[in-house]
Amino acid sequence: MHDTHPMIDYSRYDRVRAAAFVDDRLELLDQRKLPFEQNFIACRTADDVAQAIFDLVVRGAPAIGIAAAWAVVLAARELGDVPVDTARERLEPVLQRLNAARPTAVNLAWALARMRGVLAQAGSDWQERLLTEAKAIESEDLAANRHMGELGAALIEPGSGVLTHCNTGSLATAGFGTALGVIRAGVAQEKIARVFATETRPWLQGARLTVWELQQDGIDATLIADAAAAHLMGTGQVHWVIVGADRITANGDVANKIGTCQLAIVARHFGLKLMVVAPWSTVDMATASGADIQIEERDPAELLGYGGQRTVAEGVRAFNPVFDVTPAALIDAIVTERGVLHAPFDTGLRAMADAG
Ligand code: MRU
Repeated sequence: MHDTHPMIDYSRYDRVRAAAFVDDRLELLDQRKLPFEQNFIACRTADDVAQAIFDLVVRGAPAIGIAAAWAVVLAARELGDVPVDTARERLEPVLQRLNAARPTAVNLAWALARMRGVLAQAGSDWQERLLTEAKAIESEDLAANRHMGELGAALIEPGSGVLTHCNTGSLATAGFGTALGVIRAGVAQEKIARVFATETRPWLQGARLTVWELQQDGIDATLIADAAAAHLMGTGQVHWVIVGADRITANGDVANKIGTCQLAIVARHFGLKLMVVAPWSTVDMATASGADIQIEERDPAELLGYGGQRTVAEGVRAFNPVFDVTPAALIDAIVTERGVLHAPFDTGLRAMADAG
């Protein structure tokens, strides 16, 4: 796999990092505070990391997998110099607590399965092997994103307008981003003329994170209210809707940030295209369809107020699912680092899984 493209200056088009493992701790950029405060939180234990994932200090499917892998390294260091059998036994509950931090993004379970697999094979070098694996999980994600950027941008006609949802950038990954990586590559290659980002209510990943992240790169982007998407798409300003994924099932259904399915339906209505961009770590061949995905529900308080101030009458109930499932039939292209798929996705995904 190539992980660089000669036309893209990565030092310009990728200036933010969500996480950094330094000495004895995992430093996480606190995404609850962006864009006005850039605070790092130091996690020194695996449970600190599990809490940070649950609290959305770090979020985005690949980023939570990477953070969890580093959390296992922290837990291993706390154990010290014990035999590998003891390490396996003592780390298993830690792996399970990390896995329980968020249910929908399969990248979390995938990264933990990789760490568990390494531990199962390791001998007395188990500490070192876990460290090497966490580094590999992180660096492979960055390489995958750069490659997907190139693959996805190749699908876009010059002069196109694109709309993205949530935050799928460097903040959500090891760097460069998935859908935002394609947008970065498309802008760098001068194919994308206009970038629009939804606010992504209720947590405002688009408003607080995506447009800020693009601003760091000097990429011009226009924020829209989620409710403005159909108007924008119906008036000819968008050619591709480009989104990430938290889980892609064997039939090509895609779980992603709440609101993605609405965008997919509107795009299809107006004859626009939908591209889903995700590393292979997001593909869950063990789950048959989107109906089998657990959809995370978060605190209804996210809907009942803003910035700590209640905006809704006392006594009102709210329902806050934070992901939805877009049926495979509404998707035009799925881009992974293994290649680009078009319908039928079930056979394409199976063939890619078998090819390894
Ligand atoms: O709740 P979040 O912010 O973790 O949700 C993130 C998304 O839905 C992203 O689109 C997805 O994880 C892909 S990130 C590359």
